[in-house]
Amino acid sequence: MEQLLQQIEAYKQEVAGFSAADSTALEAFRIKWLGTKGIVKATMGEMKNVPNEKKKEFGQVLNEFKTFVENRFEELKEGAGNGQQATAPETDFSLPGDHIPVGTRHPITMVRNRIISIFQQLGFSVATGPEIEDDWHNFTALNLPAHHPARDMQDTFYVHQNPDWLLRTHTSNVQIREMEKGKLPIRIICPGRVYRNETVSARAHCFFHQVEGLYIDENVSFADLKQTLYFFVKEMFGKDVRVRFRPSYFPFTEPSAEMDVSCFICGGEGCRVCKHTGWVEILGCGMVHPNVLENCGIDSNKYTGFAFGMGIERPAMLLYGVNDLRLFSENDIRFLKQFTSA
Ligand code: PHE
Repeated sequence: MEQLLQQIEAYKQEVAGFSAADSTALEAFRIKWLGTKGIVKATMGEMKNVPNEKKKEFGQVLNEFKTFVENRFEELKEGAGNGQQATAPETDFSLPGDHIPVGTRHPITMVRNRIISIFQQLGFSVATGPEIEDDWHNFTALNLPAHHPARDMQDTFYVHQNPDWLLRTHTSNVQIREMEKGKLPIRIICPGRVYRNETVSARAHCFFHQVEGLYIDENVSFADLKQTLYFFVKEMFGKDVRVRFRPSYFPFTEPSAEMDVSCFICGGEGCRVCKHTGWVEILGCGMVHPNVLENCGIDSNKYTGFAFGMGIERPAMLLYGVNDLRLFSENDIRFLKQFTSA
């Protein structure tokens, strides 16, 4: 304990003898003595080593030391402040201000927002859900039981600690979660990031973005699905764009279709973008499979519904003429600042 008292005396002398030449020296003083890792704090920490019967006495000594340093700092501050004010250059308010660059929205965000606002006009509201999902919400409830061959098309990443957890492969998990709530009718769109175990290239990545949609009510038909998508296409790509549906297969919809639009780059003539077919594939869709409805506790004799899902990267690449998908996630300012927010 003697040692500690001596040490405090020595500290006090050092503090008393210190003089701050300028504000930098003063700041160094503050950090050294009063900072969170400073000497005062460390010295106060010695209390825990002081035997109980001496705690009161030492408490006083330590508090006094702390006040001593604080007072000295205030003194120095006043001194340094005065000194500095005398020499500080006058501010010239007629000079132009510093330029603060304004950011722009990410192109994927811009296309996503555009898609969302189109469906909002039709009364769809936005729903979101977790990116780390369990097997049930990403696969099994969607009529994709374990060992179903269609799971191969959506290979993903699994969470080491729990084999039931995975990174969602589509935002259809949000549709399941919404249906499980049991409130009908449902009219939602689900934007979000999804993951797939794919080799990274100019056309594929291990993650991308989607907007999926779901409408469930009594008497919803395939005609409703088509009209909804027609409206979307006209708003998104222009009124001259033509649409075609091709029969397809998804375990969670029956019947299922793939929707193409006439190439909005060449107008359907054939070009590099549409690989000279005149058509660009935009989304998958179909009538929700009765098994999916029943899995979520919805009476499939009473209710029907349609669903669709599209990637955002592809239309963004086409709309902005971007030829490599990786550019979207490299965070290169030179690339990103070319897009001005709408
Ligand atoms: N979930 C599908 C996918 O990610 C897309 C889709 C959604 C297809 C809804 C049909 C109906 O590939």
